[in-house]
Amino acid sequence: MDRLSIRGGRPLNGVVPISGAKNAALPELCACLLTAQAVTLENVPRLQDVATMFKLIRNMGVKVERNDVDGVVSVNAGGLITPEAPYDLVKTMRASVLALGPLLARFGRARVSLPGGCAIGSRPVDQHIIGLTAMGAEIVVEHGYMIAKLGQGLTRLQGARIATDMVTVTGTENFLMAATLAQGETILENAAQEPEIGDLAEMLIAMGAKIEGHGTSHIRVEGVDSLHGCRHRVVADRIEAGTFLCAVAATGGDVLLTNGRADHLEAVIEKLRSAGASVTAVDGGIRIQSSGRLKAQSFRTTEYPGFPTDMQAQFMALNCVSSGSATVTETIFENRFMHVNELVRLGARIQIDGRIAVIEGVEKFSGATIMATDLRASAGLVIAGLVGDGDTVVDRVYHLDRGYDQMESKLRALGADIERIRT
Ligand code: UD1
Repeated sequence: MDRLSIRGGRPLNGVVPISGAKNAALPELCACLLTAQAVTLENVPRLQDVATMFKLIRNMGVKVERNDVDGVVSVNAGGLITPEAPYDLVKTMRASVLALGPLLARFGRARVSLPGGCAIGSRPVDQHIIGLTAMGAEIVVEHGYMIAKLGQGLTRLQGARIATDMVTVTGTENFLMAATLAQGETILENAAQEPEIGDLAEMLIAMGAKIEGHGTSHIRVEGVDSLHGCRHRVVADRIEAGTFLCAVAATGGDVLLTNGRADHLEAVIEKLRSAGASVTAVDGGIRIQSSGRLKAQSFRTTEYPGFPTDMQAQFMALNCVSSGSATVTETIFENRFMHVNELVRLGARIQIDGRIAVIEGVEKFSGATIMATDLRASAGLVIAGLVGDGDTVVDRVYHLDRGYDQMESKLRALGADIERIRT
């Protein structure tokens, strides 16, 4: 298992390119299952989760070709497709559940393993099942698999009104994809509004889907008989951008994030500004300048456009070495404070009470060996290492590789002293 070795204390300066969004590329690769024609995706990030999704759809019979120079991926689901997602592939990536909606919509049946993924809570898929059932699917859970087919007498999914109990990102994406080929109108109430959903909707529209209201909590889809191929560029990764912003805020420095979308990160940028960093939307990106010790900021994670749960660990690492105290409330996942014990090993002062973490800022972290526990937690630990006194070794970097495109080489180009130890 690879590790990252970081010698802290260097400011970050320069230019960093932001890659395409993991959480847009994954549903968009699944959306390719909706058509027999070729789809070209641009700006697909090089990540372990994307490689897993390639494997998952290739295993179904889909042709996937990647051009590593420019992130262009060609996908063709025109051959004989086996609508199955086996446990071995699904277990490492919860987003595999995104295959369920498109497979049911195009082939009328699917067999998809129940997901594994990050250990950040129980993360059930009950809403996915309830919503697709409302669209006419019959789904049974047997031997760890969701076995889905169309209800009796149906030849395709049926439009429906779906109001989920909570806002779910991949749930909204599954329903959106399924609804494009359903008969009649589907209304999604309580839909998630994340920019990745808007990006998926734009891709589906380019494939011939009829969608209105994406980007709001009320999405309307008029089903069509078939979708065609398209060329689509994956939106920039707001979480990668937010991670670099927190890293620079913590280390100090002056960095331009090219392709970064400030309009997708307003909640995080507002907190960084209150903390004392200068963050500006510039032509083609985001610029951050930070010097001196910042002020700790309290925040609550909520659905978009609120503060993203996927930025909680990174901002917490920044808070730990800021002045004053702050509370961080995690409202989306029940077990997303696993990085806290590791940060405490580095000298942070954090008390947890249920879903609330109370942080008292300390002058600096003190380098040690720590263990990554999930994807975004790993990014928080890397930030801690960058401002640590001495050497920090982050173990189990495979979590980071799931969702960050060449993080250590991007950080090294900005001046960080960081290297991968391959074992
Ligand atoms: C997506 C993102 C993930 C992010 C999360 C919240 C992808 C591939 N992943 O995950 O990076 O952290 O949104 O912004 O886009 N829930 C249920 N039943 C369900 C579905 C969800 O109880 O059927 C609960 C979850 O346990 C969680 C909450 O709803 O507490 C939100 O989860 P959801 O938005 O579905 O997260 P994901 O789509 O899995």
